[in-house]
Amino acid sequence: MKAFRTYHLFFVLAVIIAYFTAEGLDLAHAWAGYLVAAFLALRGLLGLMRARGFAWTRLVPFGPSAVTHALTLALFLCIAGVTATGIVMDKGASLSTPPTLQIRNEHGDQKAEHGRYFGETERHERESAMNEIHEVLGNILLPLAIVHVLYLLLFRFDMARFMLFAPRKAAG
Ligand code: HEM
Ligand code: HEM
Repeated sequence: MKAFRTYHLFFVLAVIIAYFTAEGLDLAHAWAGYLVAAFLALRGLLGLMRARGFAWTRLVPFGPSAVTHALTLALFLCIAGVTATGIVMDKGASLSTPPTLQIRNEHGDQKAEHGRYFGETERHERESAMNEIHEVLGNILLPLAIVHVLYLLLFRFDMARFMLFAPRKAAG
């Protein structure tokens, strides 16, 4: 089970970095976002391989832990959604284009723009829809994470402690 706790720790750190680089720090933001994507891919793989602690049942909101799992699932889907929309917007440009070649957008911020591949109008339509979803999901991420943490601390304290690498209390 240590693997899952370690995964959770570094995954959460990557999400936090992506969140706090969202305004202004575009290249750092994109890289942090791709790091989150890499963690999600790893988690998917470990889930498929049935690695211990990575069972998908963790995210299924039925049974005695339904509330915990429902909150975890909502958070998981939010992070997956914000990462996916981010990548659709970027299409790998930030990974491959040196910053000096990136075009500045209408606000004068440096961005990985994709005008090279799409007509202007098409690009703006694609980007604004994705951008909208990306920002909405990005903005509900914080309240979801707060609820996730508070719920676990208040109602599943032993589980929360365990996730933070404290030993589990003896059963009873
Ligand atoms: C966990 C992962 C991510 C989180 C939490 C996140 C969060 C956010 C948030 C909250 C914003 C809105 C900032 C604002 O209000 O100005 C934003 C903007 C943006 N994100 Fe992400 N993001 C993530 C992943 C990604 C990825 C993987 C990419 C692309 C590689 C990406 C590209 C962008 C871009 C280009 C914008 C700017 C949109 C604009 O200013 O018009 N994000 N992100
Ligand atoms: C004090 C801080 C935290 C504690 C104690 C904690 C604890 C936990 C626990 C116990 C689980 C497993 C829940 C279950 O089996 O149903 C979990 C899963 C999860 N946590 Fe946290 N968490 C913390 C912070 C965060 C933060 C800040 C985020 C995101 C920004 C986050 C995102 C997630 C996600 C996405 C999962 C599901 C992982 C998966 O199955 O792939 N956690 N957390």
